Amino acid sequence: MELSQKLPYFEPADQALLEDFLPSSGRPFLETHPDQGKLQEPDFDQEHISAEDNFSNDKLLDRNDSQLRPPNSPLPHLTLTYAMSLDSKISLGPGASTALSSSLTGSMAHYIRSRHDAILVGVGTANADDPSLNCRYSADGKSVVGFDKQPIPIILDPSGRWNCRRECKVLQLARSGKGKPVFWMVNKARIRNIDTVRRDNFEGAGFIVPLDEPDATCVLDWGFLLRRLSSCGIASVMVEGGGRVIEDLLREHNQKFVSSVIITIAPVWLGKGGVDVSPARKNGAGHREVGRLDTVRWLPLSNSPDGVIAGRFKEQSQCVE
Ligand SMILES: NC(=O)c1ccc[n+]([C@@H]2O[C@H](COP(=O)([O-])OP(=O)(O)OC[C@H]3O[C@@H](n4cnc5c(N)ncnc54)[C@H](OP(=O)(O)O)[C@@H]3O)[C@@H](O)[C@H]2O)c1
Repeated sequence: MELSQKLPYFEPADQALLEDFLPSSGRPFLETHPDQGKLQEPDFDQEHISAEDNFSNDKLLDRNDSQLRPPNSPLPHLTLTYAMSLDSKISLGPGASTALSSSLTGSMAHYIRSRHDAILVGVGTANADDPSLNCRYSADGKSVVGFDKQPIPIILDPSGRWNCRRECKVLQLARSGKGKPVFWMVNKARIRNIDTVRRDNFEGAGFIVPLDEPDATCVLDWGFLLRRLSSCGIASVMVEGGGRVIEDLLREHNQKFVSSVIITIAPVWLGKGGVDVSPARKNGAGHREVGRLDTVRWLPLSNSPDGVIAGRFKEQSQCVE
């Protein structure tokens, strides 16, 4: 694919600064370019779910956790990445798509995408931004990386409320063979509530992947979600937002699932009313901090007005020179 929108080259020297925070090796997933209009089925180890099967195959919906993946297989590497303002906002308001990154850090984000098997956003972002969730990184400055380096787009939508229109960018890319099939992750019990119109719009562009029912507190089980992705052959996932997803992963009990964090800080204040990123404190934690990165690197990007911080939580930390 030719470069349609010019992104500045993300230099190998800058790439090297990120290396310690990226998955160790990119594993090609769904390598074959699908025929026009025909999906290449993922090579799942276990049973997989096609868009059609989702509404008829009760057996798949009844699988339990232990059936999902072989014992002792590692959870996917999860890189949490987002751009925020100086007042810790990621957008001007709910549903307001807000450009924060400079062209260089935007380019960096596409480079990071090229290093992951999948890219995940919450349904709030999918509905607000109509994101493409593809990778427009170019290794040679002329053409973007091929199909094998495109991440699998994942929409995290426990309630099944994604406004899935036929013209959604992510669906168009999948249908034209320029992007990978979309994984639409929905709670088991809500899958049947997806109406025929949205079901038809989604047809031929991806797979509905059932999530386990949340407990009474409606807490999403990231361990289950990551095991589910692992069972689909996904070894690395980049989580890009939005606010609710980021805040949930930054809560103390979920930090163990976060392999690394890469945050772009734009030199701008968005003001009150924007979408904040500020994880809730644990009940009874008083005035204790919520989380602190243990292994930290500030990236000295010379041609960008933005700051970039990369780090890991203690539980995930390895020494970085
Ligand atoms: N600056 C950046 O880097 C960046 C990146 C991405 C998005 N954004 C911005 O972020 C904003 C959207 O953020 P948002 O907070 O509204 O939406 P979001 O985090 O994308 O999605 C939130 C929704 O996803 C479901 N969900 C996600 N995580 C969940 C969890 N752990 N447990 C249960 N449900 C979960 C819930 O749906 P239900 O309520 O239906 O259960 C929740 O309402 C947009 O303005 C977008 O432009 C900014």
